[in-house]
Amino acid sequence: MIKVLKWLGIGLGALLGVIVIAVVVLLLLGRSRVNRSYNIQVETVAIPSDAASVQRGQHLVEAVVGCTGCHGTNLAGKKVFEEGPIGRVYAPNITGGQGSATGAYTDQDWARAIRHGVSPKGKGLLIMPVEDYNNLSAEDLGAIIAYLKAVPSVDNQTPKPDIRPLGRILVALGAFGEVVPAQLVDHTASLPGPVAPGVNVEYGGYLVSISGCKGCHGKDLSGAQPPEPGAPLAPNLTRGGHLGKWSEAEFIRTLRTGVEPDGEEMDAEFMPWEEYAKMTDEEMGAIWRYLLSLPAKESTAP
Ligand code: HEC
Ligand code: HEC
Repeated sequence: MIKVLKWLGIGLGALLGVIVIAVVVLLLLGRSRVNRSYNIQVETVAIPSDAASVQRGQHLVEAVVGCTGCHGTNLAGKKVFEEGPIGRVYAPNITGGQGSATGAYTDQDWARAIRHGVSPKGKGLLIMPVEDYNNLSAEDLGAIIAYLKAVPSVDNQTPKPDIRPLGRILVALGAFGEVVPAQLVDHTASLPGPVAPGVNVEYGGYLVSISGCKGCHGKDLSGAQPPEPGAPLAPNLTRGGHLGKWSEAEFIRTLRTGVEPDGEEMDAEFMPWEEYAKMTDEEMGAIWRYLLSLPAKESTAP
């Protein structure tokens, strides 16, 4: 009897030991995934100064690439995520005001952050969707930087990101996808050339590639679970989904109002339609044509 208890004790002790080691390994793995650094060559981007380019930059920032969705409508910083034991992530102030993270930025620092997702000190930036922004044409990237340098200064300081132990374990287990998107980018690719605006498939494909649709709706846009905790499924956007039954006017009305043809409302917290609503009819028409051009997929979402 005593012998059995002794062996049971040894067995339990060993099990506990294995669990402790697993937790420590996950903690370390999570920490190394959060704290990645990169030493990259940044291509020089021409920054325009004419009013039309600055206006183009503002439109992209507010309506297409959605910086304002995370950094706030005045770009002075905003909470993206905060859950006690998991941690917090704030998108910092990127105006020229007090508490700004970009007050001392050079043009090269802007390009490094937006195109590569890396800070001036070489740290991989958390959740900045650079797998999309890396597709920005040289002209559009230049226009965005020109606008950001001219944006009105606002004083605001946000807390530094802090991923706590439970958050690190979840990151190690892949619960939020890749938290440092710089990891997903080919940092040696050269700056893409311009894509001429027009209501056509090619321009629609370009807009989709820079505006983040794939990050939530899946690489082939046939539906996916967005990485953000608590998000509903992002539906199939190929003809195999609801869009196969919508008209172009219904698609445009859905993005503008957040209400689908059947009266269902889209949750603006998880589907950033309030930004996309500011796109022009031409841009939405181009995206519509691109989505219809995709092979009809069955919804692959779980
Ligand atoms: C999905 C949310 C999200 C979107 C969209 C987004 N950002 Fe960010 N951004 C963040 C977060 C979070 C950080 C802080 C990351 C960190 O400190 O690791 C950040 C950091 C930055 C920084 C780095 C500041 C520093 O510490 O040096 C710059 C610059 C920046 N963002 C610019 C932009 C611009 C410009 C856009 C649009 C083209 C944009 N961001 C879109 C979430 C976002
Ligand atoms: C941050 C994640 C995210 C991004 C980025 C995103 N979506 Fe969505 N989208 C969602 C979610 C989640 C839903 C479901 C919303 C709901 O039911 O409340 C949705 C719903 C939709 C719908 C309704 C589809 C249906 O069958 O009901 C359309 C259309 C749509 N998105 C288009 C787009 C387009 C076009 C883009 C890029 C320009 C885009 N989305 C970018 C998350 C996203």
